[in-house]
Amino acid sequence: MSTFIDIAQEIAREAAGVLVSYAERGIGYRLKGEFDLVTEADTASDRLIVERLRTRFPSHSIVAEESGKHRTASEYCWYVDPLDGTANFAHGFPMFCVSMGLERAGRMIAGVVYEPGRDEMFAAELGAGAWLNNRRIHVSGASRLSDCLVATGFPSRKRHHNVNVHFFYQMGMASHGVRRAGSAALDLAYVACGRLDAFWEFGLNPWDLAAGVLLVTEAGGVRTGMRGEPHALSSPDLLADNGLIHEEILQLFRDVFAGRYRIPVPGLEP
Ligand code: IPD
Ligand code: CA
Ligand code: CA
Repeated sequence: MSTFIDIAQEIAREAAGVLVSYAERGIGYRLKGEFDLVTEADTASDRLIVERLRTRFPSHSIVAEESGKHRTASEYCWYVDPLDGTANFAHGFPMFCVSMGLERAGRMIAGVVYEPGRDEMFAAELGAGAWLNNRRIHVSGASRLSDCLVATGFPSRKRHHNVNVHFFYQMGMASHGVRRAGSAALDLAYVACGRLDAFWEFGLNPWDLAAGVLLVTEAGGVRTGMRGEPHALSSPDLLADNGLIHEEILQLFRDVFAGRYRIPVPGLEP
């Protein structure tokens, strides 16, 4: 694995240590907007990662969720989510991670997602593959949606504009179930190692998905937008899966977008 990955792993582990120390002490949160939580741990982890990246790669740009853009003229840019799964973290629900992805001239070239709770380090490098704790990982081999476990998420901002509940219901009916675990980076890492077969969400940010999409594609999976269009890092709507079920999911999504419900939504009357 490259120096980029080695150093990113080192930094992600150190930042996760900061998160865990806050979790052990008990943490409060404040709101950014109506429902979007942020804790002291988010900002402390962000500060540490940005400091370390600036020391190790002084010329690189950084886009970090809490501290914003640190732009340079470099073609390298790190996308940092210092704590993905903040709502989980703030409630003591043990599903959160640190996510760091490196883009070079518009292409993701390296990514790490570290989950301290299970001591799981997911890493990927463009053209070289994806690993979980140094063992190669691959997407699942499921070829029918009816055999799949899938995941999604709901962004905290503008919840009332989010149409995802319609997709959630139809996907839930068509598969073994939909998980909503609260960390997009881990959802994508789980698709990469085959624990999940697909993940989709509307309204993601580049730092949520930068490392995760590289994990999925390097593990043999695919990613597009929700209508099958090419997915760029700046595209908020994402479908990532093992490739075998991609067309079937896109067909189901086309039906939902067109209001053709395969399974009618039950009424509230008994
Ligand atoms: C959130 C999580 C969540 C996803 C949201 C993200 P945060 O990130 O990844 O699973 O559904 O869209 O904003 O706020 O915990 O870093
Ligand atoms: Ca996030
Ligand atoms: Ca975050």
